[in-house]
Amino acid sequence: MANRRLAPAAEQPESFAFSPENADWARGQIEKYPEGRQASAVIPLLWKAQEQNGGWLPQKAIEAVADQLGMPHIRVLEVATFYTMFALEPVGRFWIQLCGTVPCDSCGARELKQTLHDRLGPQGHVSADGNFSWLEVECLGACCNAPMVQINQDYYEDLTPQSLNTLMDDLAAGRPVKIGSQTGRTSSEPKDSINTLTDPTLFDGSRVGAWRKRFEQTQGGDDKGDAAVKKDEAASTEARAKDDPKPAQPDAGRATESPAVDAPAQRAAGGETPVKADGKGTPGVSPASPQVADQVGAPKISDGAAKTAADKEAVEDDVTLRTEPPQQPVASGADDAVHEEQSPEERANAAGTRPTGIEAARDNRPDDLTKIKGIGPVNNRRLNDLGVWHFDQIAAWSAPEIAWVGAYLAFPGRIDREDWVGQAAVLAGKKG
Ligand code: FES
Repeated sequence: MANRRLAPAAEQPESFAFSPENADWARGQIEKYPEGRQASAVIPLLWKAQEQNGGWLPQKAIEAVADQLGMPHIRVLEVATFYTMFALEPVGRFWIQLCGTVPCDSCGARELKQTLHDRLGPQGHVSADGNFSWLEVECLGACCNAPMVQINQDYYEDLTPQSLNTLMDDLAAGRPVKIGSQTGRTSSEPKDSINTLTDPTLFDGSRVGAWRKRFEQTQGGDDKGDAAVKKDEAASTEARAKDDPKPAQPDAGRATESPAVDAPAQRAAGGETPVKADGKGTPGVSPASPQVADQVGAPKISDGAAKTAADKEAVEDDVTLRTEPPQQPVASGADDAVHEEQSPEERANAAGTRPTGIEAARDNRPDDLTKIKGIGPVNNRRLNDLGVWHFDQIAAWSAPEIAWVGAYLAFPGRIDREDWVGQAAVLAGKKG
C-alpha cells in the first residue's frame, strides 16, 4: 500500500469551513456523545468534510475538524492518515479502491490491478480526463465475492479485467451500472452449485434426534444402551491393552516411580537387618521368611533364619504393606449390572409416584411438549407413552411425581432445575 501523505502544498486549499447545512449536521453528530467525549465524532466529521471537498481531505479540513472537537491537530491527522477511506490527495470523479488482500488476490485482484495500472497509470493519480483515480487498499469486507472494488460509495464484486473495463466505460459515459456482483450472484450465495448443507437430515430434526438419543443412552437414559456402550468400551480397552502392553512413559510430565530403597522387606530379602516402618530397628536379626522372598523375588531364606519374633513381625508387616494389591476401584460393569437388573419403571417406582396419564390427547390435539425448555422430541414421545399429552398435566405434577418422571427419564433433578412445571403452567395459561 502506498504511503499516506498529505497532498502537496500547491494542491491544498487555503481554508476550509463546513457549509451551513453540513455544520448543522456536524453539530448533530457531536451531540450524540456525552460531554467530554466529543472526539468520538471525529470520523463522521472527517467523512463529511471529505464529501464536501469533492472526495478528498485537505489539511485545512483536518485542522478545522480538530478545532471543532477540541483535539490536537496531530491526533486528527493520525486518524485521517490511518484509514484509507480518507483520500489525502485529489481524486477523480470516480475513486476506485481496489482490494488487494489475500482472498481477493487469489481470486484475480492482481489482474485487476494490472488493468487499472494499464488504463489509468500509477495509483494515486487522477486520469487525464479527470474521471478516475485508484488506490489499492486492504480488505473491504466483501471477500466472499472476490475480487472486488469500491467506487465512491458502492461495491462492485466478482470482477474480471473485462467486466472492470466495461464498468469504467459505463461510468465514464454516464450509463447506468449494476452495483454488487457483476456475475449475477445474489448477495454472497455460492458461486457454483450448492454442495454444502445439502443433507436433509440436518433440517428434518432426525439428526438432532439421533444425537439426543445417543446422548441420553450414554448418560444412562437407556440402561441397556448404556451397558452396551460401556461393554464395547471395556472390550476395546482390553484389546488395546493386549496388543500394546507397554508401560506408560515415565517422562511424559508425570512423576517417575522409583522403588523404595530401604523397606524392611527389601532389607530382609537382601539378608540385612529389617527395620520397622516406625524407624525402630532390631539389631542382630535374621532375613525374611521364604514367603517374603518369594513375593519380592529375592533368594529364599529359611524360616528358621528369622532370629526373633520381633523380626518376623516386622517382616510380615512390611510384606503386607508392600505386597497386598492396591485396592481397585469398583469396575464400571458392576454398576451396569445393577442398572441392568432394574427397568426404568422399577427405578422410577423406587423414586416417587407415577403421575396419572390419559390414554390419548384430548380432542386428539396433543400439546407440543418440546416448547418446554429441556424436553426434546424423544422425551416428548416418552412422555406421551406415559399418558402425558398436555401442558396442564405437567403443570399439576407433585414432588413425588416429578421424582418419578425424573428417575424414569434418567434426569434426576433436571425437571426442577429447568422448572418444567413452571414452564408448563405458563404455556397452559397462554393456551387457556
Ligand atoms: S479480501 Fe477483498 S474484500 Fe476481503
